[in-house]
Amino acid sequence: MNKEVLQSLRAVSAQVGSLAELFAVDAARDWLVLDACGIHADFSRQHVNQQLFEQLLSAAESVEIASRFTAMGSGAIVNTTEQRAVGHLALRGSSTNSEMSNQAQAQLLRAQKLARDIRGGAIKGFSGQMITDVVNIGIGGSDLGPAMAHAALRPYHNGPRIHFVSNIDAAHLDDCLSTLEPSTTLFVIASKTFTTLETMSNAQRARVWLENAGIDSAPHLVAVTAAPDAATQWGVPAKQCLHFFDWVGGRFSLSSVIGFSVLCAIGEDHFGALLEGMHDMDTHVLTTPAGQNLAVVHALMWWLNSAVLQRTSVAVVPYSHDLRLLPAFLQQLMMESNGKSVHADGSAVDAPTSPVVWGATGTDSQHAFFQMIHQGTQVIPVEFVGVVASTGSDDNAHLQLNANLFAQAEALAAGKFDAPGHRNFPGNRPSTVLMLNELSPRHIGALIALYEHSCAVQGWLMGVNSFDQWGVELGKVLAHNVAAQLESGTLSANKTMTHPLLEWYLRARKKLLPK
Ligand code: F6P
Repeated sequence: MNKEVLQSLRAVSAQVGSLAELFAVDAARDWLVLDACGIHADFSRQHVNQQLFEQLLSAAESVEIASRFTAMGSGAIVNTTEQRAVGHLALRGSSTNSEMSNQAQAQLLRAQKLARDIRGGAIKGFSGQMITDVVNIGIGGSDLGPAMAHAALRPYHNGPRIHFVSNIDAAHLDDCLSTLEPSTTLFVIASKTFTTLETMSNAQRARVWLENAGIDSAPHLVAVTAAPDAATQWGVPAKQCLHFFDWVGGRFSLSSVIGFSVLCAIGEDHFGALLEGMHDMDTHVLTTPAGQNLAVVHALMWWLNSAVLQRTSVAVVPYSHDLRLLPAFLQQLMMESNGKSVHADGSAVDAPTSPVVWGATGTDSQHAFFQMIHQGTQVIPVEFVGVVASTGSDDNAHLQLNANLFAQAEALAAGKFDAPGHRNFPGNRPSTVLMLNELSPRHIGALIALYEHSCAVQGWLMGVNSFDQWGVELGKVLAHNVAAQLESGTLSANKTMTHPLLEWYLRARKKLLPK
């Protein structure tokens, strides 16, 4: 977004007044409340008046959101720095590109058949018994989305137990495998590139674990990848390789076969409902004018807080144990997509881009970081996510949970004025509340698609390419070099800034390693 627009938005924002003043003149502020696809979105406690809202909508109009979604849906090269299409709409029947849609559908059918065979026992373990446990080995987008959706859909689990292992730290896989039986365990190696260090290291260790138990590993392996040749070469049977495509970004890949572990857990009907929920949200976003468009308004509120009001972080607080992995999923989605400092054309950005996204469940976080959100010196916008229908076995507990959510939103906005000092709550702290009618596959699908589209719209407002992630590359290259030096025990003559630390580490390791 150009400087003049941002300056003008900041000038209008400065005149908006406090939340107390805004509610004094308009007690409902229902023009900032939207309902779509089973999600009730209440943005009324954001620092926005009608004039600012109109200006935000004009800013959205100026970046031509509708035509950008059309280009995305058509399969155009939207990710220009990698020369790739951005095709997640094709994964759930929302794209106009029939070739991409057909490719996606063919792989979904293969994934459904494979999951059916695993769940129904047509594919058995080495012992001839049913597969009892599936371990998803993947990281980033090949872990966070499926792990989050799997946790969120706990009441729908009716297949094998699913485990997620991501970290190269051997403790992660060791911990997971410690309770599993090799002959009834299947590994899903989820990696778009099939080269990611963490995933390939864990996959190799998993294969050795099977072989050490006297098991032919190949039938116990499934690959989910955009590099099927690499997977078959590595040893996964071709019929157990599910494909996705270079036009699916890792953090936008849950609706591809990357969701295979979730499919195994909940079955094809429920997984189908998850995709339908995403399609519902896609349709809403692609057909609704900006002012009533949930993803556009959501993006505008995040962008207002980060780029215009220069609030550097946003706390995502799901009041739901089953949604506990949502903050981690959103960290990758928003920060890997929009944590950039150059525009899509390579020129420097001169306004804040992605806020720091963090958070944890309510009510736990009330007893951890809410002190700072209420009384700290920084204003931290909060995104509350709640569920109307009970998700546990105690409806009153659920009511208490939601009572806490609403109470926090009120306390943040209204505050409680006391004499200046320890007991004063300043209030005027912004929050959004997203309430899902229920935690069903359809609603989870809609929520994920909402965040995917909000992320893209924020990127267009910032002027960045949300679909690449060059910033993760340098660390990967350096880790490779450092590992080679540590393995050989000889450091390179090149005195890097971490050279003294590496010298210390080699000495410390030598002392601690068994002689
Ligand atoms: O962290 C960088 C990244 O490339 C993510 O974008 C991606 O989701 C993750 O690594 C895993 O990559 P892959 O699926 O290729 O193993």
